[in-house]
Order: sequence, then structure tokens, then C-alpha cells
Amino acid sequence: MAMSNPSKFTLNTTYRLKSGHEIPVLGYGVYQTPPATCEEVTTYALRVGYRHIDSARAYENEQPCAKAISASGLDREQVFFTTKVHPQDMGYEKTVLSIAASLSETGLDYIDLYLIHAPFGGKEARLGTWKALSEAQKEGKIRSIGVSNYGIHHLEELEEYIKSTGSSSVISVGQWELHPWLPRQDIVDWCEKRNIILEAYCPVIRGERKDEQVLQDLSQKHGKTWAQILLRWSLQKGYVPLPKSETPSRIEENANLYDFQLDAEDMGKLQFPTSYASCAWDPTTSHD
Ligand SMILES: NC(=O)c1ccc[n+]([C@@H]2O[C@H](COP(=O)([O-])OP(=O)(O)OC[C@H]3O[C@@H](n4cnc5c(N)ncnc54)[C@H](OP(=O)(O)O)[C@@H]3O)[C@@H](O)[C@H]2O)c1
Repeated sequence: MAMSNPSKFTLNTTYRLKSGHEIPVLGYGVYQTPPATCEEVTTYALRVGYRHIDSARAYENEQPCAKAISASGLDREQVFFTTKVHPQDMGYEKTVLSIAASLSETGLDYIDLYLIHAPFGGKEARLGTWKALSEAQKEGKIRSIGVSNYGIHHLEELEEYIKSTGSSSVISVGQWELHPWLPRQDIVDWCEKRNIILEAYCPVIRGERKDEQVLQDLSQKHGKTWAQILLRWSLQKGYVPLPKSETPSRIEENANLYDFQLDAEDMGKLQFPTSYASCAWDPTTSHD
């Protein structure tokens, strides 16, 4: 069931994408999860109740993620699987091969969401990659498509391409590093105006802000951890947070977000409109 009132969210809540498909509002990230342990921890995450996995060609762990989906006993339709074009595979031909490799390596009949990982390679390569993704979507190999790490100038380039070519493709999802210390209001506004779902990577800021007084105070107020405060903030902003953990207790902790709410004052304390502090890479600023 798709809904948008965070006070009623559960681990099973989904948003409806512009593609018509649904995306679970909490994802499980697997960046830097080694292939050797990825199946085990992803299986654990699915047992805990996550129904959305965020992988990428560059993470080299699409296959163990798919093994976990198949070992879970869940129907394929119940799990949302994302992967991304490797930044070195930009351009039409390489993206066609990338999609074929994702399908053959995972053994999946379709990928739920295929994102352009980063806006590298120049305009022709970016638009060629989009064309390959939209064709694969029409063929049923991919259900929804989107971008990651795009700056406003990259988003506008893509929007102009879609309009000028009369393409029926839609940007369903955008993925960025998003948290109180990197609010990216310009990008958030651009996407919200167009009903593009925003996914938040590094939602617990890789632990780098755990000692911030505001997180300690809110943690104490709600009887929740600093990580749960950050993830609840992300859900209440309307984002799809993608926490990564290989630690069973944290995998559980990061999914235990639905028995409390941040009020308007709490949300206000986590508002740093002029902050621009990334903990990961930041390809949004690239100009090639
Ligand atoms: N599109 C992109 O360019 C891009 C870039 C970065 C990330 N992502 C996606 O977003 C996901 C999340 O980002 P991320 O992995 O960089 O950062 P993150 O989720 O903010 O942080 C992950 C780190 O924090 C630790 N951690 C997680 N939950 C915790 C908790 N409750 N308490 C204490 N520590 C905790 C993890 O440790 P343990 O694993 O040891 O528990 C890990 O070291 C990635 O896995 C990936 O799917 C996408």
C-alpha cells in the first residue's frame, strides 16, 4: 500500500513511483559489504523485514544480494532490488552490456530500479546511458529508472533531452547523500516539484556525527539511538533512507523506526540550511 503520512509508516510502507511501481520507504545499503559476506547479511536484513536492497555494479555484490533474495523464500515481487551503472560504463553500448551483465550475474528476470551512479563521461555518454536504460525499461528488463549524484545542471540536461526527443521515459528516483548536514534544498525542491522520489544515501553519516549534541539530546528525549534519530528525520522528510550495516544488531536497530516521531521542534533542531558537509564523494559538482 502506498502512503505518505510518516506517522502511520511501518516497515512495509511503500511510495508509488512515477513509473507506477512501488518502492519500500526503507532500503538496505550494501556499499563496501564484501561479496563473501553480503549474502549472509542481506539474508539477515530480509529476515528482519527489509524489502529493498541498494546495490551497484561498482560494489561487486549484485550476485550475493540476488542469492539472498532467492534464499529468503520471499516472492520476487516482494523485494525491491536496485543497482547502478558503473561510472566507467557510461554511454549507450556499455550500458546495454551493463544491464545484460546485471541480469545474467543475478539470474533475476528484472531489476526494480536501475540508476545512473554518477554524472560522469560527458553529455553524450550520460544521454546514451539514459537511452539504454529507457529501452531496457520498455523491454521489461528494468521497472524504474533514475539518477544518482546529479547536479541541477545534469538534471536539466536530462529533462531537456526527454522533452526534445519526445521520449516517454520518466525519472522516477534520484539518489543523493542527504542528511541534516547536507540538506541539498535546491535538488530536493527540483525533485519534489516533479514528484521524483528522493533516496538518501549515507543517512547515518557513516557515524561521523554521532557525538553532535543535538543528536545526543534527541536520542535521550525519545529513548532512541542517534542513528534512529537520523533515519526517522529522513523518513519524515519524505526520503527513502538507505542505511548500510553488516552488524546484525544495527541492521535491526536501523529498521526499528516506527514507534516514535520527531515533532516540529525536533525537526527544527535538525535544520542546518546553509550546511554543505558531505561524508562521501560529491559528483553533483562535476562539469565534464
Ligand atoms: N549513489 C552513491 O553514490 C552512493 C554513495 C554512498 C552510499 N550509497 C548507498 O547508500 C548506502 C548507505 O551509505 P553508506 O554505507 O556510505 O553510509 P551510512 O549508511 O551512513 O553508514 C554506514 C556506516 O555506519 C555504520 N552504522 C550503520 N548503522 C549504524 C548504527 N545504527 N550505529 C552505529 N553505526 C552504524 C556501519 O557500520 P557496520 O556496517 O560495521 O555496522 C557503516 O560503517 C550504501 O550502502 C549504498 O547502498 C550510494
